[in-house]
Amino acid sequence: MNRYVPEFLLMFICAVAGIIAAGCSKKEASVVFAVGGAPAEIDFWEKTIQRFEEQSGIPVELLRQPTDTDQRRQNLVTALRASRSTPDLFLMDVAWIAQFAASEWLEPLAPFLEGSPLSINVFFEPVIRTAATYNGTLLALPVYVDAGLLYYRKDLLEKYGFAKPPELWDELVAMAHTIIRGESQEGNELTGFVWQGAQYEGLVCTFLEFAGSNGGGITIADSLPIVATDRNRSALAFMHGLVHSEKISPVNTGTDMKEEEVRFSFQKGAALFERNWPYAYSLHQADDSPVKGKTGIAVLPRFVGGTSAATLGGWHIGLSRFSRQKERAFALIAYLLSYEVQKASALEAGWNPGRTDIYGDSTIMERLPHLVTLHDVFSHAVSRPNVPWYSYLSSVLQRWLNAALTGTVPVDEALNKCEKELRVIVERYSTRKQH
Ligand code: GLC
Repeated sequence: MNRYVPEFLLMFICAVAGIIAAGCSKKEASVVFAVGGAPAEIDFWEKTIQRFEEQSGIPVELLRQPTDTDQRRQNLVTALRASRSTPDLFLMDVAWIAQFAASEWLEPLAPFLEGSPLSINVFFEPVIRTAATYNGTLLALPVYVDAGLLYYRKDLLEKYGFAKPPELWDELVAMAHTIIRGESQEGNELTGFVWQGAQYEGLVCTFLEFAGSNGGGITIADSLPIVATDRNRSALAFMHGLVHSEKISPVNTGTDMKEEEVRFSFQKGAALFERNWPYAYSLHQADDSPVKGKTGIAVLPRFVGGTSAATLGGWHIGLSRFSRQKERAFALIAYLLSYEVQKASALEAGWNPGRTDIYGDSTIMERLPHLVTLHDVFSHAVSRPNVPWYSYLSSVLQRWLNAALTGTVPVDEALNKCEKELRVIVERYSTRKQH
């Protein structure tokens, strides 16, 4: 009996070691790619990755992240701060590339582009220059470009005799009152306008659009952040009024409304107007969508004397400096940014590709005409401050804007206090590298 124990043990140990080795080698061989977004966007990644694996023989592990950009950033920061070799690749919000770049977490991409079929010239030049390049080094490539848009119920506007979507914010309010009143007489519950007001990055984006369309915004001049201006005050008061005095935006705007909550509300037919990013369009037009064929899309309204403003968003792909398989990871980047996949991303996920050559494609022009007609919105969108410590600025803005929106703090006081706190951050970080 004793004779057999060591043999049995040996076999067992070998088997376990084999399993571990197989597991390790599989893990090492897989390129780990962190993605996030709405469920339909994750589906797109899954299908795309499968095609890549079949074509290249390189296994890929998808790391699924949430939809909220702040949570996605935090998850990645944890791994990168610890110099972990995975994820090898990740999507980065345009708002946080500067932080990742200044922290030296990103591998320069120019050497990989040399000798690759991918050319830098196919991408939106301003996006490459202002977002993807840091101190003259190319550190990211745009997968898709976002800009805020107005979605509206074409059928309801027509029913009430409105020939076109609102150009002014006041027109939007007036249309909403007329249509809500009319619909309620027919027993239909409708909310007027849904938009991102919860305390997160999306609120900073919507604020920049309301403020920008009133001639305001956030500026950092001579290391002095300026937000407490008359134009910003009236824009923020207007946002507050949509919920509390006009009551055309839901009471939970400031507590619950992020991209997907806003999209669900419009998509189930509960809202007349919606502010969202381009991804919502193909979902609204999907076969199982109650608003299929009823969804119009336009530039966001403006205040009298202002011009329509859209915040520049979008997601770039980055290669981790700590990756142990950079060549293979770059092969995946080149595939994801190929004409074929970028075109599929527009058709299947509703994204605005980072490559400009897709916009002249005949299938795209036929199936997604708004991408072409709204092209100007993307070229002129307003950027958030492109500084490595943007996330600190953003969290202060999120807190005070949300306090004003929910009515916890008066608009004047919120913007004044916000500006003071922003000043402290700018003074502290403007000359230092931030991790
Ligand atoms: C979208 C945009 C991104 C923005 C985020 C805010 O994902 O692409 O730039 O920061 O929404 O919620």
